[in-house]
Amino acid sequence: DGTTRTLADGGSLPLVGLGVWQVPDGRACVDAVRWALDAGYRHIDTAQAYGNETSVGKALRESGLDRAEVFITTKFHPGGSDPVRAAEQSLRRLGTDYVDLYLVHWPQGGPTRAWPGMERAAELGYTRSIGVSNFDVAELAEVTAIADRPPTVNQVSFSPVTFRRELWEACERAGVVLEAYSPLGTGRLLGDQTVKAIADETGWTPAQVLLRWAVQKRIPVIPKSVHRERIEQNLRIFDIELSDEAMARLDALDRTHGTAKAQERKWW
Ligand code: A2P
Repeated sequence: DGTTRTLADGGSLPLVGLGVWQVPDGRACVDAVRWALDAGYRHIDTAQAYGNETSVGKALRESGLDRAEVFITTKFHPGGSDPVRAAEQSLRRLGTDYVDLYLVHWPQGGPTRAWPGMERAAELGYTRSIGVSNFDVAELAEVTAIADRPPTVNQVSFSPVTFRRELWEACERAGVVLEAYSPLGTGRLLGDQTVKAIADETGWTPAQVLLRWAVQKRIPVIPKSVHRERIEQNLRIFDIELSDEAMARLDALDRTHGTAKAQERKWW
């Protein structure tokens, strides 16, 4: 259906997931994930570095859903132990015997160093798919060049303001799905004048405008919220459509065009 994106290895990634970056481990995280699953989310995005995999696992069990119904992503924290051992620890915390997607959290420390271990984690069945996060075009090419099993996903900060068109196009050409974290600009884009104007014109919320912009480009998004009403609202973007004109106005907010990765950072 129109709510998932097929990965190069055949995996099926739901276009909207709940992101739990900066959600503290414990009741707040368990509740957010529970509310998301109750609302119909079938995709949860966590990481070893977030320190809340235990809560994600608890919510998954409390929901009563079958493990196979939910797409779970976690991320290898480079610089710690190797990806295989780290995956074993993640799986223990999550209380599951596999994740759907396992990403190298960032390229620092050597973009290719973790990759053989990531492939081994996939061979062992600890994860269905493997990918990367925060990689630029050159870093992605380095991994692809040495990979037996190429990355299926590159998860990066992505919104109309951080619209890395070159990176997105390079990913599409390479068969890598670009996945958007911080699709609301960590909340800072909700007050943007253009976003607010389009929200007024359509009767949707600014969050829905921003999420629909990405999803209409078939880009998966993982908005973060710890509020039930917002979690529910952020999934209600499949029966709405932005006009070409509104999409173009949002595209024009791009501040990353032609800038190097280091320069991009100043916009946030
Ligand atoms: P909260 O968690 O308090 O609900 P991003 O996904 O880009 O990182 O943005 C996350 C930020 O946006 C969080 O501060 C979150 O606040 C806020 N947020 C998420 N969804 C909504 C929404 N529908 N309306 C208003 N704020 C939202």
